[in-house]
Amino acid sequence: MIRGIGAERTVKVSELYRGPYTTDLKPNELITEVRIPLSGSRGVYEFFRRGGASFPSAIIAVAYQERDGVITDSRIAIGAVYPEPVLVSGHLNGLGIKEVRAKVSDIVNSIFSSIDAKPLEDTHAPGDYKVKVARNLLTKALTEIASGSVQYIKAPVKDELIKWEFRDSVEYVGDLIRVRVNVNGQWIEDLVEPRLLLLDFLRRHGFREVRRGCDEGKCGACTVLVDGRAVKSCMVPVVRVSGHSVTTIRGLSKGMELHPIQRAFLEEYAMQCGYCTHGFMMVTHDYLTNIDPTANDDILKLSIKNICRCTGYINIIKPLRRPPNTYNLNNRINNTKQKVLIDYEKYLRVMNNGHKHLHSKYHQ
Ligand code: FES
Ligand code: FES
Repeated sequence: MIRGIGAERTVKVSELYRGPYTTDLKPNELITEVRIPLSGSRGVYEFFRRGGASFPSAIIAVAYQERDGVITDSRIAIGAVYPEPVLVSGHLNGLGIKEVRAKVSDIVNSIFSSIDAKPLEDTHAPGDYKVKVARNLLTKALTEIASGSVQYIKAPVKDELIKWEFRDSVEYVGDLIRVRVNVNGQWIEDLVEPRLLLLDFLRRHGFREVRRGCDEGKCGACTVLVDGRAVKSCMVPVVRVSGHSVTTIRGLSKGMELHPIQRAFLEEYAMQCGYCTHGFMMVTHDYLTNIDPTANDDILKLSIKNICRCTGYINIIKPLRRPPNTYNLNNRINNTKQKVLIDYEKYLRVMNNGHKHLHSKYHQ
């Protein structure tokens, strides 16, 4: 669903994408909803991602319908391996579910030999490696299908998409739009260009702790909470959050008292230059508050996909390793012996200017 001024339209995903960085969106339009039909198919989804990469090196999705143990319709999609996703329709049609097991390697060979495209090379994986991984993932998916245990495709439950309502009606003043955003408890009203990003709005209003990294939704350095959910502020026009509440890392602490997550990161020295740190803390907060309060370090490690350009992941994982109750998000630090009182302004200044003082003054 796409909305523009006074009009809305529906566009198929296949018609929306027009090439790298180019879509069918017109200058005054935004995507407001993505509809995925649930077709009664069964499906398997496999992906492989290396290290802290935001995007997988290979993705395989197989969807199929069956009647009396025979596949009546099927689609196999291969993503992240070739310059464009590859969709193979009908390849499994007519096969009995139990027959799939004996034919797994034939199916995999015939699908990959029919693809007439050169695999992508990227910093995470050379092309031939991506193809090898994708073949293994497809083998795994087909083997699972042959076991007969594959379920109907369900909508995501845990990490559901955020759906914001426009709380304020859009008011134009000339070419500008009036927005009101509650940042860290204070309402800020401004006239903005329709495409101004939340990231730029926040920095313009002095919230310099929100960092610009990649500017294209990959690194997470710009993450803030919108109504409590982690959002990459470089991806959201500020108009979209008018009437909503935004929390930056500054809004997590209570005056001089750090939030438990901030304290954990500080005590574990989970930063080198500190540029990515706010983003990591915001995502950790969202995960432990909204998705899985008892997540262990393995789950957090897999779920928090931000990028640390200093590659300081070892120390970033340490605060995530704390037992879940250390992060009692409703009860801030209540053990006075453990309480770290800190001059937050000073801490912020140090975080903005580099780590040397932080290390010697606050961490020893
Ligand atoms: S700057 Fe927003 S995700 Fe990188
Ligand atoms: S970018 Fe993560 S500490 Fe420097």
